[in-house]
Amino acid sequence: MHVCVLLVSLYSAPLPTIDPCVNYTSLDQPWRATNYSTKSVLYCDNSVNWNGWYRLLYNGMNALMPESCVPINHCGTSAPLWITSAHPQVGDGVVSRAVCGNWNGNCCQFKPPSIQVKACVGNYYVYQFVKTGACDLAYCAGNNLLVITSVHLYIATYILTMHLFDKLCLDVQKPVIKPQIKGTV
Ligand SMILES: *[C@@H]1O[C@H](CO)[C@@H](O)[C@H](O)[C@H]1NC(C)=O
Ligand SMILES: *[C@@H]1O[C@H](CO)[C@@H](O)[C@H](O)[C@H]1NC(C)=O
Repeated sequence: MHVCVLLVSLYSAPLPTIDPCVNYTSLDQPWRATNYSTKSVLYCDNSVNWNGWYRLLYNGMNALMPESCVPINHCGTSAPLWITSAHPQVGDGVVSRAVCGNWNGNCCQFKPPSIQVKACVGNYYVYQFVKTGACDLAYCAGNNLLVITSVHLYIATYILTMHLFDKLCLDVQKPVIKPQIKGTV
């Protein structure tokens, strides 16, 4: 009886899905860069058969979607796509983010479907891109991750230094306290 119940619950458990941080397609297309401006060759992400998760790169370096409005005719398209709120943290898992396309003097003239985003260990993000519903719209790959990384590095170094400093201070204090206690006994 108990075995039967266990078997039934195992059978009905959902199939394990591979972490999108592992199962993704890399997109290293320099024309997606926020600083790439064009009016001649326009890409449209509505024409792409998106399937699963994507990691954005810029010349081999991790890139992330911009979190603020991008000028028109950038990212290799007419109306560049950006996300309207901040990227998640690693602990947040998969989150949904609204997408906007800048056009006609309105940073959110186009409102394509929301996308799923996940932060991965190793300082990169994966995005579940979908058809954008209109042309010419394209997801942007910010080429400013290097700046963010160096700020993070600076903060990490600062915290580490303060931590080591704290440890050193404690180590110095310990022997000082001991003789004092001995002296009072
Ligand atoms: C865009 O920025 C990158 C550095 O992040 C630079 O190497 C590249 O030349 C820039 N491209 C344009 C078109 O300005
Ligand atoms: C990896 O992602 C693709 C695209 O979504 C999907 O078809 C495939 O089943 C995934 N592979 C595994 C092992 O989960």
